[in-house]
Amino acid sequence: MIDLPDDVRRRTAEQICRRLRDAGFRALLAGGCVRDLLMGISPKDYDIATNARPEEVANLFPRTIPVGAEFGVLKVVCPEGIFEVATFRTDGPYEDGRRPSFVKFSDEIADAFRRDFTINAMFLDPETNEVLDYVGGKQDLQMKIIRTVGAPEKRFEEDYLRLLRAVRFSARLDFQIDSVTEEAILKYAANIVKTSPERIREELVKILTEGNARSGFELLDRTELLPHLLPEVSAMKGVTQPAEFHPEGDVFTHTLLMLEFMQNPSVTLAFGVLLHDIGKPKTWSLGDRIRFNNHDKIGAEIAAEICARLRMSNRETERIVWLVKNHMKLPRVLEMKESKRKRFIREEGFPELLELGRLDCLASHRSLEVIRQIQQYISEQKQETLRPAPLLTGNDLIALGYKPGPVFTEILDRIEDAQLEGIVQTKEQAVHFLRQHWPSP
Ligand code: CTP
Repeated sequence: MIDLPDDVRRRTAEQICRRLRDAGFRALLAGGCVRDLLMGISPKDYDIATNARPEEVANLFPRTIPVGAEFGVLKVVCPEGIFEVATFRTDGPYEDGRRPSFVKFSDEIADAFRRDFTINAMFLDPETNEVLDYVGGKQDLQMKIIRTVGAPEKRFEEDYLRLLRAVRFSARLDFQIDSVTEEAILKYAANIVKTSPERIREELVKILTEGNARSGFELLDRTELLPHLLPEVSAMKGVTQPAEFHPEGDVFTHTLLMLEFMQNPSVTLAFGVLLHDIGKPKTWSLGDRIRFNNHDKIGAEIAAEICARLRMSNRETERIVWLVKNHMKLPRVLEMKESKRKRFIREEGFPELLELGRLDCLASHRSLEVIRQIQQYISEQKQETLRPAPLLTGNDLIALGYKPGPVFTEILDRIEDAQLEGIVQTKEQAVHFLRQHWPSP
């Protein structure tokens, strides 16, 4: 879907409200979009809250998707995008960690009081532009405070994901968590595991990619959520490193610094950064100096377990594991055999690995010399020297009398290596190379 300018989406959300109003219902912009508009941020989504029941909403719009009609939520599909329209409600507890066990349709005041944080519990009446704030959200927004609506225990018991949401909003908006709310987070931290892994992953992704990831992870640590969510990351705390390579301190400190330096990272880069040294706690050893032998390999195994636990997609898992496994190769790229180097550089994940390496340097000895040299090498390469068209194919080998089999892959790879190293440049040279190394077809 194209990213329409904000005012178009806002206008559409307002039109949806108007249609509901014209049919005799109350309809307001609700939750996160009101918070963002008041902060001058452009909202990612516009959610609408109404006293119309889902079936009544469905009757008013040509295309709707009943995402959670039993919970009063329906999506209205417009050419400008998809808008969530939710009936004013109070929620029962989220017993399965995914959905409230029941909902009761109610009015807007009760709907405000079922929401998580005061800054997320305001409405905006698009007809009058009036902000309807029943919970002190405006003041908390001004004072930059994340505070639950009412008793934190009750709000967290309803949905433990809110423990993590508090951290996310605090980090992303650079707000303080109110002390009573933070005490309750500490008290309930262990309950975070009762939430579904998919919802936890979505929150972690947002903490890692939406800015201020370092604050997010410091806060996860301070609120004691981290050992329950990612015990392997918690284990990096206090793991000492050789000062000559890591003057910044222990493995956790180093990782936090890298999180701080990330700029608009992809999900896979962000997780790659978070997990690149995840193998260090298990491989720490002290001989001539502190060493972490094989931490990349062990780390890749741990990263795979974490990705599986968080139900990451196969594509994301593969990339994250690849980044962890290969991050130690970067300093030696320029010493590699040319064919190996070129094959490595043309791997799909290489640009992310290079960025990870840049952050790794910045967060330790701070010299970017190696990264610059690799960038320089890449800039000197032409597409045809990195990915030359094959000089011989399997069919050529058959035509030359060779019998198809697994050896074909080996032969073609070796010929490509020779080509990448500039040893063979033409088809004739490739045939000559073939006859030399595999004389009998
Ligand atoms: N909400 C809640 N409890 C939750 C999730 C959501 O009370 N566990 C309410 C909040 O009022 C929130 C609204 O539902 O503002 C919409 O939720 P969501 O889209 O998840 O968050 P946003 O506040 O819109 O934040 P973001 O900008 O990150 O999407």
